[in-house]
Amino acid sequence: MKFFIDTANLEHIAEAESLGILDGVTTNPSLMAKEKISGDAAVMAHYKKICEITDGDVSAEVISTDFEGMKREASELVKIADNIVVKIPMIRDGVKAISWCTANGIRTNCTLVFSAGQALLAAKAGATYVSPFIGRIDDIGWEGMQLISDIAELYAIQGFETEILAASIRNGKHIVEAAKAGADVVTCPLSSFEALFNHPLTDIGLAKFLADHKKAAGQG
Ligand code: G3P
Repeated sequence: MKFFIDTANLEHIAEAESLGILDGVTTNPSLMAKEKISGDAAVMAHYKKICEITDGDVSAEVISTDFEGMKREASELVKIADNIVVKIPMIRDGVKAISWCTANGIRTNCTLVFSAGQALLAAKAGATYVSPFIGRIDDIGWEGMQLISDIAELYAIQGFETEILAASIRNGKHIVEAAKAGADVVTCPLSSFEALFNHPLTDIGLAKFLADHKKAAGQG
């Protein structure tokens, strides 16, 4: 399973990259706004900076909601770097734009996916990635992880090559469950990756190893 970081924060991206486990980055307009990046030129420059930190796929989201606008933005975004993947929302014109991108060799990430039917449409249009939003489904009291299993089953039966990118991941447990459910990629904030490191028995075990080492050195 690939690990993507879901942020536009350059320090967090660099930190994840330094761990040697980063396969890519996803962003969205809300994450850009959180870093106070606004205006077309600033947004493009920020994507360039992200692509300089990592060779992994970097999802850059379109703002347009009409076919012509999405086509225009996709054509501009892919000029930034070879590892740009154009993120396009699961709306009618979005599916049209994904089909156009596929026909023109532009890789895409279909975002805001909340049902298996939407995932089917994204795959039919040739999306490179499909992004089901797990946490937001949980937020309304439904079972987000079930959607990952459903899409994995559907894609396996039908032989679709679109990769399942589990998004809206909020904690370490989500990461492990998404992996079990058949996600190809998980994207989450740095804090969720860091949660995977922690186990009290690791800390206790290491403290004991180091104490024993010190004792032995004293005896020697
Ligand atoms: O990038 C899309 C997705 O991961 C957003 O997550 O936490 O805002 O629901 P969240």
